[in-house]
Amino acid sequence: MRREFRRALTAAAAGRLVGREEIITLLAALPGEEEEALRRQADAVRAASVGDAVYLRGVIEFSNYCRCRCHYCGLRADNRKLARYRLSPEEILACARQGAELGYGTIVLQSGEDPYYTAEMIASLVKEIKSMGLAVTLCVGERPREDYALWRRAGADRYLLKHETANPELYQQLHPGMGLKRRLECLKWLKELGYQVGSGNIVGLPGQSLADLADDLLLLRELKVEMAGIGPFIPHPETPLGGYPAGDLGLTLRVLAVARLLLPFAHLPATTAVGTLAPDGRQRALQGGANVIMPNLTPPGYRERYQIYPNKICINERPEDCRSCLEAMVTGIGRYLGRGPGHFQGVKQDAPRHGERFGSILNLKGRKEN
Ligand code: SAM
Ligand code: SF4
Ligand code: FES
Repeated sequence: MRREFRRALTAAAAGRLVGREEIITLLAALPGEEEEALRRQADAVRAASVGDAVYLRGVIEFSNYCRCRCHYCGLRADNRKLARYRLSPEEILACARQGAELGYGTIVLQSGEDPYYTAEMIASLVKEIKSMGLAVTLCVGERPREDYALWRRAGADRYLLKHETANPELYQQLHPGMGLKRRLECLKWLKELGYQVGSGNIVGLPGQSLADLADDLLLLRELKVEMAGIGPFIPHPETPLGGYPAGDLGLTLRVLAVARLLLPFAHLPATTAVGTLAPDGRQRALQGGANVIMPNLTPPGYRERYQIYPNKICINERPEDCRSCLEAMVTGIGRYLGRGPGHFQGVKQDAPRHGERFGSILNLKGRKEN
Protein backbone atom coordinates (compact mmCIF):
# COMPACT_ATOMS: atom_id res chain seq x y z
CA MET A 1 0.00 0.00 0.00
CA ARG A 2 1.39 3.40 -0.93
CA ARG A 3 2.32 5.60 2.01
CA GLU A 4 0.18 8.58 0.94
CA PHE A 5 -2.81 6.29 0.48
CA ARG A 6 -2.41 4.76 3.94
CA ARG A 7 -2.07 8.23 5.47
CA ALA A 8 -5.21 9.56 3.76
CA LEU A 9 -7.22 6.46 4.68
CA THR A 10 -6.18 6.60 8.33
CA ALA A 11 -7.08 10.29 8.54
CA ALA A 12 -10.48 9.87 6.84
CA ALA A 13 -11.39 6.77 8.87
CA ALA A 14 -10.53 8.63 12.10
CA GLY A 15 -12.98 11.37 11.13
CA ARG A 16 -10.32 14.01 10.46
CA LEU A 17 -11.27 16.62 7.89
CA VAL A 18 -9.38 15.43 4.85
CA GLY A 19 -8.97 17.80 1.92
CA ARG A 20 -9.24 17.59 -1.84
CA GLU A 21 -5.82 16.03 -2.49
CA GLU A 22 -6.33 13.29 0.09
CA ILE A 23 -9.77 12.51 -1.34
CA ILE A 24 -8.27 12.22 -4.83
CA THR A 25 -5.66 9.83 -3.41
CA LEU A 26 -8.43 7.68 -1.91
CA LEU A 27 -10.47 7.71 -5.11
CA ALA A 28 -7.38 6.55 -6.99
CA ALA A 29 -7.01 3.46 -4.78
CA LEU A 30 -5.19 0.73 -6.69
CA PRO A 31 -7.08 -2.49 -7.38
CA GLY A 32 -6.37 -5.17 -4.79
CA GLU A 33 -5.00 -4.24 -1.39
CA GLU A 34 -5.80 -0.51 -1.44
CA GLU A 35 -9.31 -0.88 -2.81
CA GLU A 36 -10.07 -3.60 -0.28
CA ALA A 37 -8.69 -1.51 2.61
CA LEU A 38 -10.93 1.39 1.56
CA ARG A 39 -13.99 -0.85 1.32
CA ARG A 40 -13.29 -2.39 4.74
CA GLN A 41 -12.88 0.99 6.41
CA ALA A 42 -16.12 2.23 4.88
CA ASP A 43 -17.88 -0.93 6.06
CA ALA A 44 -16.49 -0.50 9.57
CA VAL A 45 -17.52 3.17 9.74
CA ARG A 46 -20.99 2.25 8.45
CA ALA A 47 -21.35 -0.44 11.15
CA ALA A 48 -20.17 1.89 13.92
CA SER A 49 -22.27 4.90 12.92
CA VAL A 50 -25.54 3.66 11.37
CA GLY A 51 -25.42 -0.03 12.35
CA ASP A 52 -26.38 -3.17 10.45
CA ALA A 53 -29.94 -2.25 9.49
CA VAL A 54 -30.69 -1.78 5.80
CA TYR A 55 -33.67 0.50 5.20
CA LEU A 56 -35.98 -0.03 2.26
CA ARG A 57 -37.58 3.07 0.71
CA GLY A 58 -40.34 2.21 -1.76
CA VAL A 59 -40.15 4.41 -4.85
CA ILE A 60 -43.26 5.35 -6.85
CA GLU A 61 -42.27 6.76 -10.25
CA PHE A 62 -45.54 8.57 -10.78
CA SER A 63 -44.84 10.51 -14.00
CA ASN A 64 -42.25 10.23 -16.76
CA TYR A 65 -43.09 13.63 -18.25
CA CYS A 66 -40.21 16.06 -17.89
CA ARG A 67 -39.69 19.63 -19.03
CA CYS A 68 -35.89 19.41 -18.61
CA ARG A 69 -33.30 18.26 -21.12
CA CYS A 70 -30.54 16.73 -19.01
CA HIS A 71 -28.06 15.27 -21.49
CA TYR A 72 -27.84 11.88 -19.80
CA CYS A 73 -31.49 11.11 -19.04
CA GLY A 74 -33.95 9.12 -21.13
CA LEU A 75 -36.89 11.09 -19.70
CA ARG A 76 -35.61 14.36 -21.18
CA ALA A 77 -38.24 16.42 -22.96
CA ASP A 78 -36.52 15.94 -26.34
CA ASN A 79 -36.92 12.15 -26.29
CA ARG A 80 -39.96 11.86 -28.53
CA LYS A 81 -39.72 8.06 -28.68
CA LEU A 82 -40.74 7.62 -25.06
CA ALA A 83 -44.41 6.82 -24.36
CA ARG A 84 -45.31 9.17 -21.52
CA TYR A 85 -47.58 8.36 -18.57
CA ARG A 86 -48.95 9.97 -15.45
CA LEU A 87 -50.38 8.06 -12.49
CA SER A 88 -53.60 9.40 -10.99
CA PRO A 89 -53.63 10.30 -7.28
CA GLU A 90 -55.70 7.15 -6.65
CA GLU A 91 -53.10 4.97 -8.40
CA ILE A 92 -50.30 6.62 -6.45
CA LEU A 93 -52.07 6.04 -3.13
CA ALA A 94 -52.74 2.41 -4.04
CA CYS A 95 -49.00 1.93 -4.62
CA ALA A 96 -48.26 3.60 -1.27
CA ARG A 97 -50.69 1.28 0.51
CA GLN A 98 -48.95 -1.67 -1.07
CA GLY A 99 -45.65 -0.28 0.21
CA ALA A 100 -47.10 -0.10 3.71
CA GLU A 101 -48.30 -3.71 3.44
CA LEU A 102 -44.81 -4.79 2.37
CA GLY A 103 -43.42 -3.16 5.50
CA TYR A 104 -41.64 -0.21 3.89
CA GLY A 105 -41.37 2.69 6.33
CA THR A 106 -40.82 5.36 3.66
CA ILE A 107 -42.45 6.17 0.35
CA VAL A 108 -40.43 8.12 -2.21
CA LEU A 109 -42.53 10.05 -4.72
CA GLN A 110 -40.35 10.53 -7.78
CA SER A 111 -41.04 11.97 -11.24
CA GLY A 112 -39.66 14.03 -14.07
CA GLU A 113 -40.16 17.77 -13.64
CA ASP A 114 -43.86 17.72 -14.45
CA PRO A 115 -45.85 20.90 -13.69
CA TYR A 116 -49.10 18.98 -14.33
CA TYR A 117 -48.92 18.01 -10.64
CA THR A 118 -49.62 21.27 -8.85
CA ALA A 119 -48.12 22.04 -5.46
CA GLU A 120 -51.55 21.44 -3.91
CA MET A 121 -51.91 18.02 -5.57
CA ILE A 122 -48.58 16.89 -4.20
CA ALA A 123 -49.36 18.34 -0.77
CA SER A 124 -52.56 16.34 -0.61
CA LEU A 125 -50.70 13.13 -1.64
CA VAL A 126 -48.15 13.79 1.11
CA LYS A 127 -50.92 14.20 3.71
CA GLU A 128 -52.64 10.99 2.62
CA ILE A 129 -49.44 8.95 2.70
CA LYS A 130 -48.42 10.38 6.05
CA SER A 131 -51.82 9.34 7.41
CA MET A 132 -50.84 5.73 6.58
CA GLY A 133 -48.04 6.08 9.15
CA LEU A 134 -45.29 6.31 6.54
CA ALA A 135 -42.44 8.77 6.09
CA VAL A 136 -42.44 10.66 2.78
CA THR A 137 -39.49 11.58 0.60
CA LEU A 138 -40.12 13.84 -2.38
CA CYS A 139 -37.95 13.76 -5.50
CA VAL A 140 -39.62 15.95 -8.10
CA GLY A 141 -36.87 18.39 -9.04
CA GLU A 142 -36.58 22.16 -8.82
CA ARG A 143 -39.66 24.02 -7.63
CA PRO A 144 -40.32 27.44 -6.08
CA ARG A 145 -39.55 27.79 -2.38
CA GLU A 146 -43.28 28.17 -1.60
CA ASP A 147 -43.95 24.69 -3.02
CA TYR A 148 -41.23 23.13 -0.87
CA ALA A 149 -42.65 25.01 2.15
CA LEU A 150 -46.20 23.82 1.44
CA TRP A 151 -45.10 20.20 1.15
CA ARG A 152 -43.10 20.44 4.34
CA ARG A 153 -46.16 21.80 6.15
CA ALA A 154 -48.14 18.90 4.67
CA GLY A 155 -45.71 16.57 6.45
CA ALA A 156 -43.01 15.66 3.90
CA ASP A 157 -39.95 14.45 5.79
CA ARG A 158 -37.20 14.36 3.20
CA TYR A 159 -36.29 15.75 -0.20
CA LEU A 160 -33.93 14.25 -2.71
CA LEU A 161 -32.31 16.59 -5.22
CA LYS A 162 -29.00 15.39 -6.56
CA HIS A 163 -26.51 18.11 -7.47
CA GLU A 164 -25.34 15.68 -10.22
CA THR A 165 -21.90 17.28 -10.61
CA ALA A 166 -20.15 19.95 -8.57
CA ASN A 167 -18.22 21.18 -11.60
CA PRO A 168 -20.19 24.30 -12.64
CA GLU A 169 -19.02 24.19 -16.28
CA LEU A 170 -19.85 20.51 -16.66
CA TYR A 171 -23.18 21.12 -14.95
CA GLN A 172 -23.95 23.88 -17.46
CA GLN A 173 -23.01 21.71 -20.45
CA LEU A 174 -25.19 18.79 -19.33
CA HIS A 175 -28.25 20.76 -18.19
CA PRO A 176 -29.46 23.21 -20.85
CA GLY A 177 -31.25 26.16 -19.27
CA MET A 178 -30.26 25.13 -15.76
CA GLY A 179 -27.38 26.04 -13.45
CA LEU A 180 -25.56 24.68 -10.43
CA LYS A 181 -26.15 27.90 -8.54
CA ARG A 182 -29.91 27.50 -8.75
CA ARG A 183 -29.62 23.83 -7.78
CA LEU A 184 -27.68 24.76 -4.66
CA GLU A 185 -30.18 27.49 -3.85
CA CYS A 186 -32.96 24.88 -3.88
CA LEU A 187 -30.88 22.66 -1.57
CA LYS A 188 -30.36 25.61 0.76
CA TRP A 189 -34.11 26.29 0.91
CA LEU A 190 -34.82 22.63 1.63
CA LYS A 191 -32.35 22.70 4.53
CA GLU A 192 -33.87 25.91 5.88
CA LEU A 193 -37.33 24.38 5.74
CA GLY A 194 -36.20 21.50 7.93
CA TYR A 195 -36.24 18.66 5.42
CA GLN A 196 -33.77 15.80 5.79
CA VAL A 197 -31.96 16.60 2.57
CA GLY A 198 -30.52 14.15 0.11
CA SER A 199 -28.25 15.15 -2.70
CA GLY A 200 -25.65 13.24 -4.68
CA ASN A 201 -23.83 12.87 -7.94
CA ILE A 202 -23.35 10.79 -11.05
CA VAL A 203 -20.02 9.00 -11.44
CA GLY A 204 -18.38 8.60 -14.84
CA LEU A 205 -19.94 11.47 -16.75
CA PRO A 206 -18.02 12.24 -19.95
CA GLY A 207 -15.44 14.92 -19.20
CA GLN A 208 -15.48 14.35 -15.42
CA SER A 209 -12.17 14.06 -13.54
CA LEU A 210 -11.20 12.58 -10.18
CA ALA A 211 -10.84 16.15 -8.92
CA ASP A 212 -14.48 16.80 -9.91
CA LEU A 213 -15.54 13.73 -7.93
CA ALA A 214 -13.53 14.93 -4.94
CA ASP A 215 -15.41 18.23 -5.24
CA ASP A 216 -18.70 16.32 -5.30
CA LEU A 217 -17.76 14.73 -1.99
CA LEU A 218 -16.58 18.02 -0.49
CA LEU A 219 -19.85 19.63 -1.53
CA LEU A 220 -21.89 16.84 0.07
CA ARG A 221 -19.93 17.33 3.26
CA GLU A 222 -20.33 21.08 3.13
CA LEU A 223 -24.08 20.77 2.58
CA LYS A 224 -24.22 18.37 5.56
CA VAL A 225 -26.60 16.16 3.62
CA GLU A 226 -28.58 13.57 5.50
CA MET A 227 -28.52 11.32 2.44
CA ALA A 228 -26.36 10.98 -0.66
CA GLY A 229 -27.32 9.11 -3.82
CA ILE A 230 -24.16 8.12 -5.68
CA GLY A 231 -24.63 6.15 -8.87
CA PRO A 232 -22.83 5.46 -12.15
CA PHE A 233 -23.65 7.14 -15.44
CA ILE A 234 -25.43 4.70 -17.76
CA PRO A 235 -25.79 5.84 -21.39
CA HIS A 236 -29.24 6.02 -22.94
CA PRO A 237 -29.25 5.79 -26.76
CA GLU A 238 -31.88 8.53 -27.22
CA THR A 239 -29.79 11.18 -25.46
CA PRO A 240 -26.80 13.34 -26.45
CA LEU A 241 -24.55 11.14 -24.26
CA GLY A 242 -25.83 7.90 -25.79
CA GLY A 243 -22.49 7.08 -27.43
CA TYR A 244 -20.32 7.39 -24.30
CA PRO A 245 -19.22 4.50 -22.08
CA ALA A 246 -20.94 3.78 -18.78
CA GLY A 247 -19.35 4.87 -15.52
CA ASP A 248 -16.97 2.38 -13.95
CA LEU A 249 -18.40 0.19 -11.18
CA GLY A 250 -15.13 0.12 -9.21
CA LEU A 251 -14.84 3.92 -9.27
CA THR A 252 -18.50 4.30 -8.24
CA LEU A 253 -17.91 2.00 -5.27
CA ARG A 254 -14.80 3.96 -4.30
CA VAL A 255 -16.74 7.25 -4.37
CA LEU A 256 -19.41 5.62 -2.21
CA ALA A 257 -16.83 4.31 0.25
CA VAL A 258 -15.19 7.72 0.61
CA ALA A 259 -18.65 9.27 1.06
CA ARG A 260 -19.19 6.95 4.04
CA LEU A 261 -15.88 8.07 5.58
CA LEU A 262 -16.73 11.75 5.13
CA LEU A 263 -20.41 11.46 6.11
CA PRO A 264 -20.48 8.68 8.73
CA PHE A 265 -24.15 9.13 9.68
CA ALA A 266 -25.67 9.77 6.26
CA HIS A 267 -28.05 7.38 4.56
CA LEU A 268 -26.28 6.04 1.48
CA PRO A 269 -28.31 3.92 -0.94
CA ALA A 270 -27.00 0.98 -2.90
CA THR A 271 -28.47 2.44 -6.07
CA THR A 272 -30.51 0.75 -8.78
CA ALA A 273 -27.93 2.01 -11.27
CA VAL A 274 -25.17 0.10 -9.44
CA GLY A 275 -27.41 -2.99 -9.60
CA THR A 276 -27.92 -2.40 -13.31
CA LEU A 277 -24.16 -2.27 -14.01
CA ALA A 278 -23.49 -5.61 -12.29
CA PRO A 279 -25.69 -8.36 -10.83
CA ASP A 280 -23.88 -8.13 -7.47
CA GLY A 281 -23.52 -4.34 -7.61
CA ARG A 282 -25.94 -3.60 -4.77
CA GLN A 283 -24.48 -6.27 -2.47
CA ARG A 284 -21.02 -4.84 -3.05
CA ALA A 285 -22.31 -1.33 -2.31
CA LEU A 286 -23.93 -2.56 0.93
CA GLN A 287 -20.60 -4.12 1.91
CA GLY A 288 -18.72 -0.92 1.14
CA GLY A 289 -20.63 1.79 3.00
CA ALA A 290 -24.27 1.72 1.84
CA ASN A 291 -27.22 1.17 4.21
CA VAL A 292 -30.35 1.86 2.12
CA ILE A 293 -32.06 0.27 -0.90
CA MET A 294 -34.85 1.87 -2.90
CA PRO A 295 -37.09 -0.85 -4.33
CA ASN A 296 -39.54 -0.01 -7.05
CA LEU A 297 -43.26 0.29 -6.20
CA THR A 298 -44.31 1.55 -9.63
CA PRO A 299 -46.98 -0.71 -11.15
CA PRO A 300 -45.26 -3.17 -13.56
CA GLY A 301 -47.17 -1.83 -16.62
CA TYR A 302 -45.51 1.60 -16.22
CA ARG A 303 -42.03 0.64 -15.03
CA GLU A 304 -40.50 0.05 -18.43
CA ARG A 305 -41.49 3.58 -19.47
CA TYR A 306 -39.57 5.19 -16.59
CA GLN A 307 -36.48 4.52 -18.60
CA ILE A 308 -33.87 6.98 -17.40
CA TYR A 309 -31.34 4.47 -18.79
CA PRO A 310 -31.77 1.11 -20.55
CA ASN A 311 -31.80 -2.35 -18.96
CA LYS A 312 -32.87 -1.04 -15.57
CA ILE A 313 -33.33 -3.92 -13.15
CA CYS A 314 -36.68 -5.07 -11.73
CA ILE A 315 -38.75 -4.02 -14.76
CA ASN A 316 -40.83 -7.20 -14.83
CA GLU A 317 -40.87 -8.04 -11.13
CA ARG A 318 -43.83 -7.24 -8.91
CA PRO A 319 -43.26 -5.18 -5.73
CA GLU A 320 -43.61 -8.30 -3.58
CA ASP A 321 -40.95 -10.07 -5.70
CA CYS A 322 -38.48 -7.25 -5.04
CA ARG A 323 -39.34 -7.30 -1.33
CA SER A 324 -38.42 -10.98 -0.96
CA CYS A 325 -35.42 -10.66 -3.27
CA LEU A 326 -34.05 -7.83 -1.12
CA GLU A 327 -34.71 -9.56 2.18
CA ALA A 328 -32.70 -12.54 0.89
CA MET A 329 -29.92 -10.22 -0.31
CA VAL A 330 -29.70 -8.34 2.98
CA THR A 331 -29.83 -11.37 5.27
CA GLY A 332 -27.44 -13.18 2.93
CA ILE A 333 -24.71 -10.67 3.83
CA GLY A 334 -25.41 -10.87 7.56
CA ARG A 335 -27.50 -7.69 7.83
CA TYR A 336 -31.19 -7.16 8.62
CA LEU A 337 -34.05 -5.03 7.30
CA GLY A 338 -34.60 -1.83 9.27
CA ARG A 339 -38.09 -1.18 10.63
CA GLY A 340 -39.94 2.11 10.75
CA PRO A 341 -39.07 5.30 8.89
CA GLY A 342 -35.32 5.09 9.37
CA HIS A 343 -34.84 8.80 9.91
CA PHE A 344 -31.40 10.40 10.01
CA GLN A 345 -29.96 9.84 13.49
CA GLY A 346 -26.61 11.53 13.07
CA VAL A 347 -24.90 14.15 15.01
CA LYS A 348 -24.07 17.44 13.36
CA GLN A 349 -20.89 17.09 11.38
CA ASP A 350 -18.06 19.56 11.99
CA ALA A 351 -18.12 22.72 9.96
CA PRO A 352 -15.79 22.35 6.98
CA ARG A 353 -12.35 23.81 7.41
CA HIS A 354 -11.06 23.03 3.97
CA GLY A 355 -11.66 26.32 2.26
CA GLU A 356 -15.46 26.34 2.15
CA ARG A 357 -15.07 26.22 -1.62
CA PHE A 358 -18.72 26.14 -2.47
CA GLY A 359 -19.85 28.56 0.18
CA SER A 360 -17.56 31.19 -1.20
CA ILE A 361 -17.92 30.37 -4.90
CA LEU A 362 -21.63 29.90 -4.96
CA ASN A 363 -22.73 32.29 -2.29
CA LEU A 364 -24.07 29.65 0.04
CA LYS A 365 -22.50 31.39 3.00
CA GLY A 366 -24.75 32.48 5.78
CA ARG A 367 -27.35 29.82 5.07
CA LYS A 368 -29.54 29.14 8.04
CA GLU A 369 -28.70 25.92 9.85
CA ASN A 370 -31.37 23.77 11.31
N1 SAM B 1 -36.45 14.76 -12.16
C1 SAM B 1 -35.96 14.67 -10.84
C2 SAM B 1 -34.53 15.12 -10.76
O1 SAM B 1 -33.84 15.14 -11.77
O2 SAM B 1 -34.12 15.46 -9.64
C3 SAM B 1 -36.06 13.28 -10.24
C4 SAM B 1 -36.03 12.12 -11.18
S1 SAM B 1 -34.47 11.83 -12.02
C5 SAM B 1 -34.88 10.55 -13.12
C6 SAM B 1 -33.53 10.98 -10.74
C7 SAM B 1 -32.06 10.83 -11.00
O3 SAM B 1 -31.83 10.00 -12.12
C8 SAM B 1 -31.29 12.08 -11.33
O4 SAM B 1 -30.96 12.78 -10.17
C9 SAM B 1 -30.06 11.54 -12.07
O5 SAM B 1 -28.92 11.52 -11.23
C10 SAM B 1 -30.45 10.11 -12.40
N2 SAM B 1 -30.21 9.77 -13.82
C11 SAM B 1 -30.90 10.18 -14.88
N3 SAM B 1 -30.37 9.67 -16.02
C12 SAM B 1 -29.31 8.90 -15.65
C13 SAM B 1 -28.36 8.11 -16.37
N4 SAM B 1 -28.40 8.01 -17.69
N5 SAM B 1 -27.41 7.46 -15.66
C14 SAM B 1 -27.37 7.56 -14.30
N6 SAM B 1 -28.24 8.30 -13.58
C15 SAM B 1 -29.21 8.97 -14.25
FE1 SF4 C 1 -35.89 15.32 -16.04
FE2 SF4 C 1 -34.73 14.48 -13.78
FE3 SF4 C 1 -34.29 13.26 -16.15
FE4 SF4 C 1 -33.29 15.68 -15.76
S1 SF4 C 1 -32.74 13.82 -14.61
S2 SF4 C 1 -34.36 14.99 -17.63
S3 SF4 C 1 -34.87 16.62 -14.50
S4 SF4 C 1 -36.18 13.34 -15.04
FE1 FES D 1 -36.27 -6.34 -7.69
FE2 FES D 1 -34.33 -8.07 -6.82
S1 FES D 1 -34.85 -6.09 -6.08
S2 FES D 1 -35.97 -8.42 -8.23
